[in-house]
Amino acid sequence: MTGEGRIVSSVLCSQHDVHARYGGVVPELAARRHIETVDTIATEALRKAGVAWTNIQAVAVTNGPGLAGALLVGVSFGKALAYALRIPLVAVNHLEGHIASAWVEQPDFPTPCVVLIVSGGHTHLYLVQSDGTLQLLGKTLDDAAGEAFDKAAKILGLGFPGGPAIDRLAQTGAAAAVKFPRPYLKPGSLDFSFSGLKTALLYHWQDRSAQERQDTVADVAAGYQEAIVDVLVEKAFRAVRRHRVNALAVVGGVSANSRLRKRLAARATDAGIRLALPSPALCTDNAAMIAAAGQQACRQGRLAAWELEASADLSLPAIMEMSPPKLRQAGQRRA
Ligand code: KG4
Ligand code: ZN
Repeated sequence: MTGEGRIVSSVLCSQHDVHARYGGVVPELAARRHIETVDTIATEALRKAGVAWTNIQAVAVTNGPGLAGALLVGVSFGKALAYALRIPLVAVNHLEGHIASAWVEQPDFPTPCVVLIVSGGHTHLYLVQSDGTLQLLGKTLDDAAGEAFDKAAKILGLGFPGGPAIDRLAQTGAAAAVKFPRPYLKPGSLDFSFSGLKTALLYHWQDRSAQERQDTVADVAAGYQEAIVDVLVEKAFRAVRRHRVNALAVVGGVSANSRLRKRLAARATDAGIRLALPSPALCTDNAAMIAAAGQQACRQGRLAAWELEASADLSLPAIMEMSPPKLRQAGQRRA
């Protein structure tokens, strides 16, 4: 990423083939694959960008949350690179990266705004204030939205990762044919809970014959997806109304979901608010969003020490300060 925030290359090494036969990510295999590919991917990214190693100004690396082994490989590589090139090292919380993705294609996206992160490990609602302060409004009490997709796909025998498989299949099904519960929790709650929905699917599926399963799997996928989408859209807009903001960003792997995108766009038009939905390649995990967040951190002087450690359960503080591009442009850099 250039100093102006333009992506010059973003190389992705998917590990889906490695994990697919196990029906989910195997941590040890993930770490090994990181070791095997990290330098090749970095070299490829520079080649595509036409940038020499010696022209890099800073290295941003994710230090958590995530799988410890994989994080450790990245942190070690990032440190080695920064040390060898004598350039700053920046640690980026994975969630901070997802949030930053909202501004990559829309640098003028306004604050205050509500940000909904929907990924394989998180379903978090944040309020980003005009001064860059980030406040947690609600989160999942059990499964994350992506987890709900992945577990459902496993039950339905659709393979891994489940989100894209359900998304594709649901396009050929009738959502109204199978009704699943909508877990809204207490009235007004901004928290989420998807484990009951997954159990409802399991019971529904267990009671079906092989023929019924074959005949209805697309309807079931569509009905299940619709339940998740209903809850995500309702809670995101509940937060927008409650905090009287005019902008909503939805980020993370699940925000690549075609039905969710359609429903969010329609609702945002109705409500007359601005919506940031990054391109699908920026929704699922990618290096560009880490670079974007790293650049903000670098500008704030938040540099990492050589003692930086990978932290599998690193949390984003309930309240922290970000620096959306808008603030930088206005010359209001925060200390
Ligand atoms: O952000 P992400 O790439 O990785 C994590 O930080 O977890 O999110 C991955 C999650 C997986 O659960 C995957 O099934 C889900 O995002 N996902 C989708 C779609 N594409 C990816 N879920 C629903 N529909 C999609 N099109
Ligand atoms: Zn992610």
